[in-house]
Amino acid sequence: MKVGVIGAGLVGSAAAYALTLNGVANEIVIVDLNPDLARAQAEDISHAVPFAHATVVREGGYADLDGAAVIIICAGVNQKPGETRLQLLDRNAAVFRSIIPPILAAAPDALLVIATNPVDIMTQAATRISGLPPSRVIGSGTILDTARFQALLAEHMAIAPQSVHAYVIGEHGDSEVLVWSSAVAGTISATAFAALSRVPLTQAVKAGIDDGVRNAAYTIIAGKGATNYGIGAGLSRLVRAILRDERSVMTVAIINEEVGGIREVALSLPRVIGREGVLLNVDPALDLEEVEALRRSATILKEAADALGI
Ligand code: LAC
Repeated sequence: MKVGVIGAGLVGSAAAYALTLNGVANEIVIVDLNPDLARAQAEDISHAVPFAHATVVREGGYADLDGAAVIIICAGVNQKPGETRLQLLDRNAAVFRSIIPPILAAAPDALLVIATNPVDIMTQAATRISGLPPSRVIGSGTILDTARFQALLAEHMAIAPQSVHAYVIGEHGDSEVLVWSSAVAGTISATAFAALSRVPLTQAVKAGIDDGVRNAAYTIIAGKGATNYGIGAGLSRLVRAILRDERSVMTVAIINEEVGGIREVALSLPRVIGREGVLLNVDPALDLEEVEALRRSATILKEAADALGI
């Protein structure tokens, strides 16, 4: 299967690298306004193929996307230290209006995976600009936040992150909602959670985990200027779920008809992912506080999207 990656920067190249190491695609075409950068990234990644899986990795133009099953869109500007994701919106919406028509002209049957921030609203913009059904325009949303939450909970319980089933939903950003209610009591008993916990789950410990998830990107960006490996691996995992028709449940962003009374808003909820994209939603069990936090997140996203006419 062919996968297109639009944007040869840190996130796009990390996604292409992760796809190659994981053997997700047979061919990866990297497209960028700067073809020299795309060509260098493709050549560098292709040198990893002998250590990984048979994958053709090459630079191309929009026309080279023909027949692609999935196209990952990472193009746009990314956060500067201290900048929120929502502040990128205006600049990246203009980028999408220029790139989505030629992408779909070359690959009309492709699923779009959106990684450009602010990813929830960029997913909404891509859906509107492309005219595709929401199920075929999938934002990476909070898949990375969910992974961060699982990793920190796993560390707290000294068990493997893959064995922790916890979700982050809503905005991929400051208003995201860590679903503690099912993370602690939902999948294992509170007694078992306490027994596994290396220290009691006090309010201070919960606050530390919340901060570690909600502000991870700010911390990493302050240190190295951007995040890329976590999101690159998450994008590779999402594309694998699509191409292998796995019916995996992942907290991705698509336009929802209504969330918490807010209509037509793109944000993350747990959803079943397969070859046709989002197959159905898996509404999480939420306590009253989480329901209200999700409604607040939906309101923030809706107001930001409306302000730009998206
Ligand atoms: C992050 C970027 C991908 O959360 O928004 O690392």
